[in-house]
Amino acid sequence: MGSLVLIVLVFVLNSFVMFINGGITSKYVRRLEGTLDMPLDSDVFHIPPGYNAPQQVHITQGDVEGKAVIVSWVTQEATGSNTVLYWKENSSKKLKAHGKSKTYKFFNYTSGHIHHCPIRKLEYDTKYYYVVGVGQTERKFWFFTPPEVGPDVPYTFGLIGDLGQTFDSNITLTHYEKNPTKGQTVLYLGDLSYADTYPYHDNTRWDTWGRFVERSTAYQPWIWTTGNHELDFAPKIGETKPFKPFTRRYRTPYRSSGSTETFWYSIKRGPAYIIVLASYSAYGKYTPQYTWLEEEFPKVNRTETPWLIVLMHSPWYNSYDYHYMEGETMRVMYEPWFVKYKVDVVFAGHVHAYERSERVSNIEYNVVNGICSPVKDLSAPVYITIGDGGNLEGLATNMTEPQPKYSAFREASFGHAIFSIKNKTHAHYGWHRNQDGYAVKGDTMWFCNRFWHPIDDSTSSDS
Ligand SMILES: *[C@@H]1O[C@H](CO)[C@@H](O)[C@H](O)[C@H]1NC(C)=O
Ligand SMILES: *[C@@H]1O[C@H](CO)[C@@H](O)[C@H](O)[C@H]1NC(C)=O
Ligand SMILES: *[C@@H]1O[C@H](CO)[C@@H](O)[C@H](O)[C@H]1NC(C)=O
Ligand SMILES: *[C@@H]1O[C@H](CO)[C@@H](O)[C@H](O)[C@H]1NC(C)=O
Ligand SMILES: *[C@@H]1O[C@H](CO)[C@@H](O)[C@H](O)[C@H]1NC(C)=O
Ligand SMILES: *[C@@H]1O[C@H](CO)[C@@H](O)[C@H](O)[C@H]1NC(C)=O
Ligand SMILES: [Fe+2]
Repeated sequence: MGSLVLIVLVFVLNSFVMFINGGITSKYVRRLEGTLDMPLDSDVFHIPPGYNAPQQVHITQGDVEGKAVIVSWVTQEATGSNTVLYWKENSSKKLKAHGKSKTYKFFNYTSGHIHHCPIRKLEYDTKYYYVVGVGQTERKFWFFTPPEVGPDVPYTFGLIGDLGQTFDSNITLTHYEKNPTKGQTVLYLGDLSYADTYPYHDNTRWDTWGRFVERSTAYQPWIWTTGNHELDFAPKIGETKPFKPFTRRYRTPYRSSGSTETFWYSIKRGPAYIIVLASYSAYGKYTPQYTWLEEEFPKVNRTETPWLIVLMHSPWYNSYDYHYMEGETMRVMYEPWFVKYKVDVVFAGHVHAYERSERVSNIEYNVVNGICSPVKDLSAPVYITIGDGGNLEGLATNMTEPQPKYSAFREASFGHAIFSIKNKTHAHYGWHRNQDGYAVKGDTMWFCNRFWHPIDDSTSSDS
């Protein structure tokens, strides 16, 4: 253990850190009182002015390759236009795409008109402007398409999970926006609005969440993972169709990757192949998700997309008391594939704290051999829990002691992370805490690609 590393870490964290079994548990303790949701009249929930003005505007990738975008928005007073007007920067040629809109009911709530409009055949690496609310109150936004899928294009992802809509959530989003390492796309780890924590799952809190995050979601795609707070399963008030508000409001390009449900799918974006898994849909053997994933992994061509990233809500490696072992059944089903296909990194949310694992696997156990502890495995991914977006449930602070060997770093603070792919061998990763300045990283790691450069890149063994 290099003392230099220790000194640098202590300096960076500006807090007392302790090594147990090689891992680090930061002793930073933030105030523990639960944080409140921002009140309905907060500036971030402001309804855009004008008759039937589009609100809650958000975009996501619309195909596998990154040449399509799905634009979604809500109009409250009337259906309004389904058209998206769009054009390339500096081009006078305006194009039109047409979508569809629907309303839904949840107990005694009726939604506005929720519009979804795919735009296809976009050019790579290009800035586009777009307008929604055509013919009424028009609102204009812009986005950048990703570079062409391929190994030698740098690309930077932001990571946010369990955001909710508290004052802390607003600080997390602000830190993400002001981070000097600009994220180009958000990989969102599930649990969006936390509307289900309100009586009757008051769906107006889905609307406020949509308005709150619009300042980012309208301008860069957020890639959606579903969490338990998207279930909205409430049989006592007659709401028995799981995921109803989420599926009506948020789209994913699941069909393009051969998936049969919106909750699991994959996309390519620049140098990355991203597989999104569903912790709350069936994943056992013979289920649709299982058979899809079994066929999905062999399709990944690391010459084309060197970086293989998996997103899920419930983490497999988690040493907090909260949600302990909840990811275990999925881990048992899928972990051998993750090792075989050399997944680089797995991002999860759910636990309201931060944790990064060593490269470990736990795939030898066969019920009788007793080999049931995680072991160091250079073919295994690093597991990162980033459920620290700042929702009203507060932080998970209790951890299992001593810190398990698989846990490289853990801290109960709110924040977000950045995964910045440099080329086919290297990616730089940083975790940013809300209590620090925008550029400060509370935890960092240089990732070496598992397919092209599978050296030991763990932070505790390099000195
Ligand atoms: C668009 O025009 C601006 C201002 O003239 C220029 O800076 C920019 O490079 C142009 N963009 C493209 C894609 O041509
Ligand atoms: C829905 O029902 C609850 C409980 O009766 C009530 O408090 C709430 O105001 C109602 N909301 C609407 C939109 O009617
Ligand atoms: C949320 O953050 C933004 C940007 O920092 C700020 O302008 C706004 O006042 C904040 N709103 C609340 C309710 O905290
Ligand atoms: C993998 O991708 C590379 C680069 O796009 C391509 O040349 C090669 O044919 C692909 N391999 C397979 C098996 O499809
Ligand atoms: C956390 O640990 C403390 C001390 O062991 C205990 O009193 C408390 O109930 C624990 N909280 C949770 C949520 O497990
Ligand atoms: C890839 O990026 C890393 C980090 O920036 C750099 O050290 C390395 O030389 C790069 N590799 C190539 C082949 O450019
Ligand atoms: Fe969760």
